[in-house]
Amino acid sequence: MQFRNIAVLTGAGISAESGVPVFRSEDGLWENHRVEDVATYMGFEANKTLVHDFYNNMRESLKTKEPNPAHRALADLEQYVTANGGNFTLITQNIDDLHERGGSKNIIHMHGELNSLLCERCGKRIEFHERSTTQSVCPHCNSKAMRPDIVWFGEMPYQMDTIESVLLNCDLFISIGTSGVVYPAAGFVSICHRMRKPTIEFNLEPSAVRSQFDKAFYGKAGTTLPAFVGYLKEHDALPDTLNWSHHCMVRQGPPWACPKFVPCPSHGHGPNHGMPCHAMQRLAISYSQAVRSQASEQSPITRPWIQPCRLITCWWAHQQ
Ligand code: APR
Ligand code: ZN
Repeated sequence: MQFRNIAVLTGAGISAESGVPVFRSEDGLWENHRVEDVATYMGFEANKTLVHDFYNNMRESLKTKEPNPAHRALADLEQYVTANGGNFTLITQNIDDLHERGGSKNIIHMHGELNSLLCERCGKRIEFHERSTTQSVCPHCNSKAMRPDIVWFGEMPYQMDTIESVLLNCDLFISIGTSGVVYPAAGFVSICHRMRKPTIEFNLEPSAVRSQFDKAFYGKAGTTLPAFVGYLKEHDALPDTLNWSHHCMVRQGPPWACPKFVPCPSHGHGPNHGMPCHAMQRLAISYSQAVRSQASEQSPITRPWIQPCRLITCWWAHQQ
């Protein structure tokens, strides 16, 4: 395995396709509030009830959201890397729990978690799934000093020591769905880039720190990431930027088009009518088997890269 130690940084963009709003919207507001009011300690001191309710509502709404194929692709990559004796660390700026529910294991929530409260008196963090108020009591010290366990602007992110050692020891750094304007997370790529580790960005558009990335894939992470992970597992190498985007992802390809595209003998050229590489062929077979056996929830059919696509259908038609 070429990349034994993989570090991943995710931001709001990876949860966008699950319906979680990103931060830097055009109006500069976060869920209709000024960031200073709901994401700084001063804002909390000025109106604790408003800030509690802001995160209460988010926590409530998170229960209706589901992980998307990008979350699941990262869980799949982690499983693959660790099964082969490597290390995989997912550093997320997100406060949602979609990585956990998507199957990821080794997660650092550097900006805190929605499903957690922090006691201002004793500093303990408690898992929490209900609505908090100024009257919520700390189970450890009994004081009414609970606040949302979110790292606000001006506060120190969690686990910076661990993050530093993960970055120093990784041999591949991948950033997904983050605009690259909030530090220290925005600076992680520079640390890796200076040490000549390969760095890759997945985003809708070039981030503010694009120049530090060796490769970039632009498009929806729910589409690009499963395809990328499939390629990495199959070839033990990073896909080439140009072919990759040309054949399958950004401009024209269907979601699961294969970068090793071969024109279809019956339908001619075009990314929608090619024969997939061996990995895709195997997946197509599992897919059709799953369909035949009236697959249950846990079956491969629910896994992101085995969804039907025109390319697979076309290849499959030749096999019947
Ligand atoms: N796939 C990939 N990228 C996407 C998608 C998608 N489907 N949708 C949006 N994006 C990209 C956007 O292009 C943007 O560059 O995700 C990025 C989201 O940027 P931000 O909203 O700035 O979120 P993030 O970078 O995570 O913010 C960092 O700032 O407000 C603080 O603490 C908060 O953790 C947050 C931090
Ligand atoms: Zn306490």
